[in-house]
Amino acid sequence: MKNDKFINNIICADTLEFLPRVETNSIDVVLTDPPYFLDKLDNNWDYEEVSNKSNQYTIKSLPAGMKFDREQGKKFYAWYLKISAEIFRILKPGGFFFSFSSPRLYHRMASAIDDAGFEIRDAFMWLYTQNQAKAMGVDHFIKKMDIDEKAKEKIKEKLKGWKTPQIKSCFEPIAMAQKPTDQTYLKNMLKHEVGLFDTNVRIGDNMYPANVFTVDKIDELIDRAFLLPKPTKKEKGDYNDHKTVKPLAICEYLIKLSAFSKDAVVLDPFVGSGTTAVAAKKLGKNYIGIDANEKYVKISERRLSELDKKPNLFRNIANTEKQEKGGLQIQLQIA
Ligand SMILES: C[S@@+](CC[C@H](N)C(=O)[O-])C[C@H]1O[C@@H](n2cnc3c(N)ncnc32)[C@H](O)[C@@H]1O
Repeated sequence: MKNDKFINNIICADTLEFLPRVETNSIDVVLTDPPYFLDKLDNNWDYEEVSNKSNQYTIKSLPAGMKFDREQGKKFYAWYLKISAEIFRILKPGGFFFSFSSPRLYHRMASAIDDAGFEIRDAFMWLYTQNQAKAMGVDHFIKKMDIDEKAKEKIKEKLKGWKTPQIKSCFEPIAMAQKPTDQTYLKNMLKHEVGLFDTNVRIGDNMYPANVFTVDKIDELIDRAFLLPKPTKKEKGDYNDHKTVKPLAICEYLIKLSAFSKDAVVLDPFVGSGTTAVAAKKLGKNYIGIDANEKYVKISERRLSELDKKPNLFRNIANTEKQEKGGLQIQLQIA
């Protein structure tokens, strides 16, 4: 099989160059948190290294929080359209594509995925309470105005607390897209072992899966409906200095909902420090991770190898054992 040499490996490559090597209709789930190439402060990747790779989509020199460039979103769309078209090709019919985003760029990302042929089925919301606001005050600019000090003080007083329009961001939208199924959902599931959602998965206090989740305890009502396990320092690894490590529980939740087959392959085209791959491995699924930065590839590999050393971390495997091929047929016959 063409994918054999990639399965359960982290590959150091530019995703757009690598994806054409992946077999058509071979992947069950793609789960990723792509780079947005917005400004240096996004810091979603090692800026030095990525910019040295002559990536034309890296946008440089934006003073943090100051410049709003509508071209950023358009360039992101054009790039993500190409990525999504490849993801569409490699996913099995009915396969799922989950893509993290930012509130500001979600529309461009979802449109790129949609225009590549996917059906946008829903959006998840990762809710959190802690974040740093990027808004800037205007005192610095008032100071530079060509007016007397008294007038400056008057303006400062008038605009006290008014800042650039960047509210504290407390949610991350995640697109949930599906490659169109091959005939009905049931036929697709029987033939390709993907396309339905596992509603046995629980969230919060044993609740039906929801499209909102949080890993912060917020209050009784929200926790009961939407709480997933909080990330631990151990799961990340104290050697892991990636700036945007996703909570393992979120990746596990999305994989559990969508990956049925015992042999399912979960691919992350921007795997960073390997969270998607670790989640897939913990759940007894196969993974393919890709990252352009060798340092992150090494961190991913180390996190994955540490899972082998700590078999108790595989606690979820038992849940997936019943979902073997035969299991599916028996379950569907009963239904
Ligand atoms: C937002 S991070 C992913 C973080 C990941 N979810 C985690 O939990 O560690 C995005 C990753 O994309 C990688 N990246 C950026 N451009 C890339 C490209 N063209 N091809 C492959 N990887 C790329 C960066 O090195 C970065 O690690």
